[in-house]
Amino acid sequence: MAGFLAKTDPEMAELIAAEKKRRQEGLEMIPSENHTSPAVLEALASILNDKYAEGYPSKRYYGGNVVIDQVEKLVIERAKKLFGVPHANVQPYSGSPANFAVYLAVCENGDVIMGQNLSDGGHLTHGAKVNASARFFQSVPYHLREDGYLDMEEVRRLALEHKPKLIWCGATAYSREIPFEEFGKIADEVGAYLAADIAHIAGLVIGEVHKSPAPFVHIITTTTHKTLRGPRGAMIMVTEKGMKKDPELGQRIDKAVFPAGVQGGPHEHQIAAIGVALKEASEPAFTEYSKQVVKNARTLSQELMNRELKIVSGGTDNHLMVLDLTLHGKGLGIFLEEALDMAGITVNKNTVPQEFSSPFYPSGVRLGTPAITTRGMKENEMAQIGGYIAQVVNEIKAFSLPDDKEGRIAYLKDAKKRMKESAVIKKVREEVKELCGKFPIP
Ligand SMILES: Cc1ncc(COP(=O)(O)O)c(C=O)c1O
Repeated sequence: MAGFLAKTDPEMAELIAAEKKRRQEGLEMIPSENHTSPAVLEALASILNDKYAEGYPSKRYYGGNVVIDQVEKLVIERAKKLFGVPHANVQPYSGSPANFAVYLAVCENGDVIMGQNLSDGGHLTHGAKVNASARFFQSVPYHLREDGYLDMEEVRRLALEHKPKLIWCGATAYSREIPFEEFGKIADEVGAYLAADIAHIAGLVIGEVHKSPAPFVHIITTTTHKTLRGPRGAMIMVTEKGMKKDPELGQRIDKAVFPAGVQGGPHEHQIAAIGVALKEASEPAFTEYSKQVVKNARTLSQELMNRELKIVSGGTDNHLMVLDLTLHGKGLGIFLEEALDMAGITVNKNTVPQEFSSPFYPSGVRLGTPAITTRGMKENEMAQIGGYIAQVVNEIKAFSLPDDKEGRIAYLKDAKKRMKESAVIKKVREEVKELCGKFPIP
């Protein structure tokens, strides 16, 4: 197929080529990103894109789905086997609609739900104020302790007090093992449904470097494009424990995805690509990959801490870490994100626990190792990267975010100019480019 796009739409082809070059010459360290394999991308770009298949295998609202049914069934079977669950729905377009379908399946409007607080690393869809999950349900957030670990005593206390219908565990910016078993006991004590959102750690669960939630929770949701290294997409699974609590749970989840929820026709090309990613994740090489992701993250966090930088909770058990810049001032995340970007290291600004700035000007950055490990980088490269990041932090740590809105805009503009002129950032940029040249993306 190669070459068609360049002829039909050279402008778009050039932009895609530019993004490819950017990724090749820089370090993608946003922990929710990865580099997918050519096989996954081939399935994603296949003619399955063209088919309407509302409904489920053998129960479609459109004709011509003989082959599509086989595709979707194959992916469902792979998901069930890999995660050890009796029911899987592979149709969610992405993680957020998947989580919304869980609400529709088990909650009524106004029910109490619990999830990890946003600035403590939780996800928007787990009841954050600005999200629909807090608009339609009564959200009771739980938090981290001062040491950066989940406060399970608080989780239990809040659950006993508020009697939630649904509890979420799993996070978007939390570097420690999720204590699924403890969550399971609390949910059982109060009769709540327990959903584990393993969007971030799905690949680590398959690679057995993170405990599986399957024995302890009723529902598992996951995106497929993070550590799992597949196309953008998501899955919702029901565990044996979930089936025991509610034998209809699988059907209720399916109905909540379609037709009752926010989705129409499933994206079968995306589903096929998820299937390819699941096949790849079942190979021994993926287990090695997952182990290396965690080893790399541990090494990197240690390298950063050796350079006097603060990591939330003092390290990591998984693929990510949150660098807390509050020692140097408030709201420095935006400066560091920008400066690292200029140095060819892509991370995202992130809130830190007890954030005293705002989500748009937070005091930390989140970074991780899934994509750079896919390129084959190991501990030695982590030491190098730790050094680069520390040098860039030094360049921005004297910045100070003004409190007033107008002042901020002008200050940020000037800070950007100073970063662009920094000899240190320019030098790191060259070194990053050289390092990346040795590790091509798939
Ligand atoms: C834990 C968690 N759940 C859900 C999502 C939502 O996924 P999506 O961006 O595909 O909607 C994310 C994405 O960052 C996530 O980290």
